[in-house]
Amino acid sequence: MSEYLLDMRGIVKDFNGVKALDGIDLKVRPGEVVGLCGENGAGKSTLMKVLSAVYPYGTWQGQIFWEGKELKAHTIRQTEEAGIVIIHQELMLVPQLSVAENIFMGNEIRLPGGLMNYSAMYKRAEELMAELKMPDVNVALPVYHYGGGHQQLIEIAKALNKRAKLLILDEPTSSLTKAETEILLDIIRDLKRKGVACVMISHKLDEIAAVCDTISVIRDGAHVGTRPMSGMDTNEIITMMVGREIKNLFPREEHPIGEVFFEARNVTCLDVNNPRRKRVDNISFTLRKGEILGVAGLVGAGRTELAMAIFGCYPGQYDAELWLDGKQISVDSPRSAVMQGICLVPEDRKRHGIVPLQGVGANITMAVLKDYARYGVINSEKELHQIEKSIARMRIKTASPDLPIRGLSGGNQQKAVLSKMLLPNPKVLILDEPTRGVDVGAKYEIYKLMFELVKQGLSIIMISSELPEVLGISDRVLVIGEGQLRGDFINEGLTQEQVLTAALGQSSELAA
Ligand SMILES: Nc1ncnc2c1ncn2[C@@H]1O[C@H](COP(=O)(O)OP(=O)(O)OP(=O)(O)O)[C@@H](O)[C@H]1O
Ligand SMILES: [Mg+2]
Repeated sequence: MSEYLLDMRGIVKDFNGVKALDGIDLKVRPGEVVGLCGENGAGKSTLMKVLSAVYPYGTWQGQIFWEGKELKAHTIRQTEEAGIVIIHQELMLVPQLSVAENIFMGNEIRLPGGLMNYSAMYKRAEELMAELKMPDVNVALPVYHYGGGHQQLIEIAKALNKRAKLLILDEPTSSLTKAETEILLDIIRDLKRKGVACVMISHKLDEIAAVCDTISVIRDGAHVGTRPMSGMDTNEIITMMVGREIKNLFPREEHPIGEVFFEARNVTCLDVNNPRRKRVDNISFTLRKGEILGVAGLVGAGRTELAMAIFGCYPGQYDAELWLDGKQISVDSPRSAVMQGICLVPEDRKRHGIVPLQGVGANITMAVLKDYARYGVINSEKELHQIEKSIARMRIKTASPDLPIRGLSGGNQQKAVLSKMLLPNPKVLILDEPTRGVDVGAKYEIYKLMFELVKQGLSIIMISSELPEVLGISDRVLVIGEGQLRGDFINEGLTQEQVLTAALGQSSELAA
């Protein structure tokens, strides 16, 4: 018998003649944790979709050997029965169903008569929540009650509940906090001890380094190399990924910072379901012209809600007094925000950022379509010109601007959403987790672009859960904890510890 649990050979997959995978091999031993690395659009998710039969046998070429035998699976259920369980990059939960129902979807526990055994499912779901250190989650509540980080962990609980021999995690930590990430990494280590193998895809290379035995790098659908993690460092992974060395991950550039340009006063947001609870509790802050203001805090601290209130799209009751360039403004919808010069690139691009079935180009020009219209007729030549400019500027990887944006890799979708929000020429740009799911090379480009924009006088609010990013890019850092402003620091000599301490509310000192 082969020493490999999984042996994928010469996998080729094309989409309408465009090769996403061009003859890739991937081998995994029992209990081995393999880090699958590569830039946005390299083909990582596609390879895992081939493996899990999201793309059934026959829609790709090559061979998959599983426990020594060729696997020709036509459905995801077949691969799951074989012991291959995948957690997709984009969450697959049904928001209206309860946490427990989501965990057991397609896998329900039934009573002898065939009726659902809710009490058994609730009990097991609660056990899983405890295992993932989320005992406070009410498994009977609909999933939409919970934020991105919790939803990601619920998705993981769903996978853990299936009996996996190989667990595939496609960007599992992109919406997790540091603490949640640690829980997940511990679970992977624990599974490994139990003999479960794992393929982990992540753009956070320190996580890859922390938990993987082997690194496999792909570029443009081709295999670049496979190496043991021991004796390697993250810089070498980066060099393998992008084919060149990136010395400074945060290309901070000097830029002049002007007077206070934007101000939010007394922003308060009430919880949609429980108006007695404040998600944002009387936050006030200022933003200077040409400034990059980082907003740090734990996931669920109220940062996204704060951004939504400023952009006029908070779904519940809220109050916000906004001042722009010395004048009080009234924002009651995203439309009015955009018209007055405030743009938001949302955190959850699948829900708020893109129209999945529309073309990449149409998605980019969506917010400014009227600029190309005269007497109601769209000047498509002008529009196409702008689209091509945006695609080139952000180096969005797509075969054509007409392809549905859904087909783009995660990072490229993010770049398209960013392009869309730059077209209305905002004065204040709010970026909510702008580099989530974005590869190191593209991150670098996004940071460069941010500096280019502030040099032109734009002011940027960047919400980020990546402390190195917040500290590497921001001029000033706001720290939010439990809906309250816990710190406002000039970013000079500021440390991760200081920010975390403030976020946890152990010190309410305002340093700036
Ligand atoms: N359904 C699809 N239709 C058309 N093209 C697709 C489809 N899915 C993927 N592609 C293309 O295949 C290539 C590989 O995409 P894939 O999603 O596998 O990249 P990835 O390595 O997972 O990137 P990321 O890090 O951004 O998630 C990309 O060029 C992408 O545009
Ligand atoms: Mg992917």
